[in-house]
Amino acid sequence: MIINEYHEPVLLQEVLSYLDLKQGDTVFDGTLGGAGHTIAIIKEIAPTGKVIGVDLSSQAISTATRKLERFKDKVILVNDNFANIKSILEELGFITVDKILLDLGLSSYQIEKSGKGFSYIRDEKLDMRFGSRGLSAYEVVNHYREEDLKKIFYQYGEEKWAKMIAANIVSKREKEEIRTTGRLAEIVAESIPRSRKPRKGHPAKRVFQAIRIEVNEELKNLSTAIDDGFEVLSEGGRMAIISYHSLEDRIVKNKFLDFKGKCTCPPDFPVCRCGAVKKANLLTKKAVKATLQEVEKNPRASSAKLRVIEKI
Ligand SMILES: C[S@@+](CC[C@H](N)C(=O)[O-])C[C@H]1O[C@@H](n2cnc3c(N)ncnc32)[C@H](O)[C@@H]1O
Repeated sequence: MIINEYHEPVLLQEVLSYLDLKQGDTVFDGTLGGAGHTIAIIKEIAPTGKVIGVDLSSQAISTATRKLERFKDKVILVNDNFANIKSILEELGFITVDKILLDLGLSSYQIEKSGKGFSYIRDEKLDMRFGSRGLSAYEVVNHYREEDLKKIFYQYGEEKWAKMIAANIVSKREKEEIRTTGRLAEIVAESIPRSRKPRKGHPAKRVFQAIRIEVNEELKNLSTAIDDGFEVLSEGGRMAIISYHSLEDRIVKNKFLDFKGKCTCPPDFPVCRCGAVKKANLLTKKAVKATLQEVEKNPRASSAKLRVIEKI
């Protein structure tokens, strides 16, 4: 297997098979990244199909533009947020799409080489934005109130030492601004009592995840993209989403159950009053996970969960 130096696409065969791609399909790939999934999709829908490849990162768009040179008449690349799926399609003149793919989170390139401060093991400027607009991690860490820091560490990082970490950040930043990922990781690590440090993983892992989710409004964007994406999906069209942590997966799972028409009335109601309507078939009763062979070759696949629906 040739290792893709930008990013190795995760669950590739599973995505291709669940999307049930057909010649001539129009596909919205909202997380283009290194175009690994996109290239495989183009081959399945050629010669008449089209992929609309979207990414918030201009770096991802320029890399993909080079990689997709030979397929340039089969792909339209857009530097935007996938949550804007409706306006993106409207601007391009598409009313519906046949397939939607979201492969959430960030690419290996972004973690290792973008210099945007996504990793706690590198000492870089605090930024963490996929794109270049909006608040950066620097503003969150240096300007958020202690209560708000605590809340995001707790909610988005499921960090049980949220209160102590937030208090320590506020006390340290009063003396000197926190400018780098190295300094932030150091402050987080020293906020957790030595005997309670996690045995697995870096002590700052959860806080970094929380700040990244906050900076990029990841959960809000995901919810909007699922709702608006479903509206523009053609009848019989499919939506596949790969998530990498439980907060994202919970959103995908619950939204897909809603589309499936799961009744949410209390069990003692004689008839359904919640108005649940079946709008889709759930094609993955349980989330699909990577095989051991894939995880061995690409450890990033270990946390991946794929869920797919088909609109009826
Ligand atoms: C895991 S990578 C995708 C990898 C890609 N499937 C491949 O095979 O190379 C996720 C990509 O989604 C982008 N991204 C994350 N959130 C986004 C959003 N709300 N809108 C558009 N792109 C987003 C990131 O910049 C990153 O390039």
